[in-house]
Amino acid sequence: MLARSVLVTGCSRGIGLELVRQLVSCDNPPAVVIGTCRNPDNAKELQELAEKYSNLKIIKFDVVDYASLSRVAEEVGVAVGAGGLNLLINNAGIMEKCPLQMFGVSLQNLEAKVFNEVLETNTTAPLMLVKELLPLLRKAAMTSGGPIGVSRAAVINMSTILASMGCFVGNADIYGYRASKTALNMLTKALSVDFGAEGLLFAALHPGWVQTDMGTTAGMLTTEQSVKDLLHVMATLTEKHNGAFLSHDGSELPW
Ligand SMILES: NC(=O)c1ccc[n+]([C@@H]2O[C@H](COP(=O)([O-])OP(=O)(O)OC[C@H]3O[C@@H](n4cnc5c(N)ncnc54)[C@H](OP(=O)(O)O)[C@@H]3O)[C@@H](O)[C@H]2O)c1
Repeated sequence: MLARSVLVTGCSRGIGLELVRQLVSCDNPPAVVIGTCRNPDNAKELQELAEKYSNLKIIKFDVVDYASLSRVAEEVGVAVGAGGLNLLINNAGIMEKCPLQMFGVSLQNLEAKVFNEVLETNTTAPLMLVKELLPLLRKAAMTSGGPIGVSRAAVINMSTILASMGCFVGNADIYGYRASKTALNMLTKALSVDFGAEGLLFAALHPGWVQTDMGTTAGMLTTEQSVKDLLHVMATLTEKHNGAFLSHDGSELPW
């Protein structure tokens, strides 16, 4: 990972926490890793990492609290300095839940409020964060120079194979989650078209089915393995991947 500065959202647990852990402890760590979470006081493991690694900064951020965006951007700007922000990983996400089902909510039990909450967290919030951090990403694209990639200026949107219409997998009744991530995929593509010429890279990555609170213990991958794969894929992204939808093994996924 050659990025000088990285921001990961949703780092209290799961894939986000593991992304931070591997980023700060790798052989050639970024100079600045920013882990955001909505309740830093409760994020004990993240706090322990910050005590151990001086390159980790924790910022309190609920991704749907749009009123806090300017404060977050200001704190990020101070942390990354003149080099701007090289890599934003939009990881925070939610899935609708029903006590009777392992995943999702049947149509009969689905409320508009829940559907909208999932769309807001998984689709609207990442877009608003990109909008707010665009000046810092642009700064990184200009000051870093070099080829397009995560070492210059990039946004990784955490997607899922469940968003794919081309290879529909799993239970059908995860309506909010599927729709929100399919929309996120479209945003990834649209942003790549809008800002690719300025040296910014956008990609949507599927982390695999991972053993987290969301993925449950039935997941096929540990967070360690998934994040190892994801960081490897991120490091190999080039201009030809701008707007791509890729799996954690680097293979292209159908939209
Ligand atoms: N696990 C899988 O198998 C799998 C598969 C495909 C894609 N993904 C994607 O990977 C990402 C991480 O998933 P995960 O498995 O690590 O999920 P997880 O264990 O449920 O963790 C979700 C993280 O997102 C945070 N979050 C949720 N809403 C937030 C908000 N409004 N503001 C800030 N943070 C918020 C949570 O913070 P709190 O602790 O404060 O709730 C938590 O840190 C998600 O985008 C998910 O869709 C996961």
